[in-house]
Amino acid sequence: MKQDEPVNDNRLDDMKQGVLGAPTHRIEGLLKVTGTAPYAAEYKVDDCLEGVIVTATIAKGEVTAIDRDSVMSMPGVVAVIDHPSLTARPAQGTAGEAPAQPAREVGYFGQPIATVVAETFEQARDAAKHLGVTYRADENVPFDPEAVEAEAQDGATSQGDLAHAMKEAAASIDVTYRTEGHSSAAMEPHAAIAQWDGDTLTVYASLQMLNYNIAELADSLGLEEDKVRLIARYVGGGFGSKLGISEETVAASVAAMELGRPVRVVMSRQQVLQCIMRRSETRQRFRLAAGEDGRLTGFGHAARVSNLPGESFAEPVLQSSEFLYAGENRELSLEVARIHRMTAGSVRAPGEAVGMPALECAMDVLAEKLAIDPVELRLRNIPDKHPAEGLPFSSHKLAECLKQGAGAFGWESGARSPRHTRDGEWWVGSGMASAARVHNVGEAKARVTLKADGTALVQTDMTDIGTGTYTILAQMVGEMLGLPTEKVLVELGDTRHPRGPGSGGSWGASSIGSAAYVACNAIRETLAERAGVAEGELELKDGKVASGATLVDLLDGSDLVEEGHYEPGDVSEDYTAAGYGAFFATVRVNRFTGETRVQRMLGAFGFGRVLNPTTARSQCLGGMTWSIGAALTESMLFDPVDGHLANCDLAEYHVPVNRDVPELDVLMVEERDGAASPIQAKGIGELGMCGGAGAIANAIYDACGARIFEFPMTPDRVI
Ligand code: MOS
Repeated sequence: MKQDEPVNDNRLDDMKQGVLGAPTHRIEGLLKVTGTAPYAAEYKVDDCLEGVIVTATIAKGEVTAIDRDSVMSMPGVVAVIDHPSLTARPAQGTAGEAPAQPAREVGYFGQPIATVVAETFEQARDAAKHLGVTYRADENVPFDPEAVEAEAQDGATSQGDLAHAMKEAAASIDVTYRTEGHSSAAMEPHAAIAQWDGDTLTVYASLQMLNYNIAELADSLGLEEDKVRLIARYVGGGFGSKLGISEETVAASVAAMELGRPVRVVMSRQQVLQCIMRRSETRQRFRLAAGEDGRLTGFGHAARVSNLPGESFAEPVLQSSEFLYAGENRELSLEVARIHRMTAGSVRAPGEAVGMPALECAMDVLAEKLAIDPVELRLRNIPDKHPAEGLPFSSHKLAECLKQGAGAFGWESGARSPRHTRDGEWWVGSGMASAARVHNVGEAKARVTLKADGTALVQTDMTDIGTGTYTILAQMVGEMLGLPTEKVLVELGDTRHPRGPGSGGSWGASSIGSAAYVACNAIRETLAERAGVAEGELELKDGKVASGATLVDLLDGSDLVEEGHYEPGDVSEDYTAAGYGAFFATVRVNRFTGETRVQRMLGAFGFGRVLNPTTARSQCLGGMTWSIGAALTESMLFDPVDGHLANCDLAEYHVPVNRDVPELDVLMVEERDGAASPIQAKGIGELGMCGGAGAIANAIYDACGARIFEFPMTPDRVI
């Protein structure tokens, strides 16, 4: 099915099973909590060797020699592999293109340069530590994104005359924010087991996008895609870090092919932080101009991000600034500084995760200057169409989220005036922010089999990275075929199955859900014919047709198999589609230490049809938790002398932990978005971190009166 127009019928609402949209716990939950769901490194593979990656200890230069003899006589050591494809991996999403880093050149401290393979993990690790490597190191390597010239990115917006609007405005602000780099910090480290049978490579890996990863891996190894099989049934979080293949997958594959034995490679936590893509730090300047009434007349957002030379990715911080607020005079621009930190790429809501908090802090500064309630300022600036491109919005619930969120939170409206409440040594304040995140969809295929015994099977190479894909597919198919979810078996994460959309960019559920929907529609047509009714009148519930016949009767001993194919059509170009929301937070700030405590946080979100309120809410809770990290704790700290990442473990790279996270409230605003996908659902996963850090920052200001322009707002910055 190619989607060329909005899907406005409510056919899913007319189904009778009642499982879609019902709060349902993860169907694979028991396997996970009992430790029986296998993750990449846990598959039982006989005769498996262990590989440990060796990483560069210079930031830029060249590996001139690797002294194999230094370790080959150590106990258990089988091989030292420095195959060029290890360092020449394709950059994210560029399968088929020339590698960004030529082999042997070192572009960042911690870059993988070789793999030591041994009989046991301990032997491999010991030998890796002792491997002799000589380098030619460059001098004067640029590490500081502020100290180099930056390249302008295409796609800048310039409309009207912003400088003039700033001059004429009743109120204008010109503020600059900085955010530091983030690591994806998935719980499961990057891991792979590769097996080569002389013809075909089977790799158990921890990846988000098997549909692309298979081509990336085949390309790096010079194999045909049909000689590669990737398996990722369970993935312990990805957050962008597993969108593309990384070195452990290539290293295990190369070693298995060279040695003719299975090889497992698991990155250490330090390696995950050092080698895997980072979110770029950002510098963002906002120029906002408004009339007395708070209506924006000028909107400027200019950002600088960084990446390695030759890499095409640039943290898309302007993404929601393009369309979130009105203002006829607009200037948006993005530039990239070329520095030698590890590759910058997609990390948890690329763009909005850092762009939205900065924008929402700037809006708070403007609201104060205008003496307008911050919620009211947002409400007055919701455009009725894309302010630059003029495209209509597919659906848009920002106003509802702001109003319902404010009501549920008990937001006291009016102009802000900080330092109003003190509780002992704590200042207490509240802040808010809008949420926005572009909606994406991807081509997706899923095979649905309605079996002769009246159960169903769904198969796709789609992954479930902890988001709930298994569950929502069981619900979708159960709803469409009139079966309880227990009667639907879902098989994911195997490239032998039809290509799904992969998990990333919050496109998973709406894309793969649509493919399953298409397959089920085809099955329903056959069933309707057999039952002698029009498809639109076919009522299925609990394995029976309304007339009384059972599915088993209609199937008459044979399975019905359909492959559903969903392709985003023109509709995605004709509308501006995004998820929206609003965050409200109460924060306590210690007057003596600058310590901050989020006391309460509420998020209200409108993101199309909710397929499962339990898993949707969990996604929001996760996003809001990451918002707390972005606001208060998360920051990659690089050594200015040699460019190494100084805080490369979870003891020093601070993600929010239980103690940092208060009771979080999630309010889901009813919405159907017929342009977003055939199942009227939009992306959910990332929205919870697209602006939330701004609400916390604004609450810090409301509490103690400190305007801080740097994220994270650690005690040294708050005090
Ligand atoms: Mo996401 S950062 O697109 O997995």
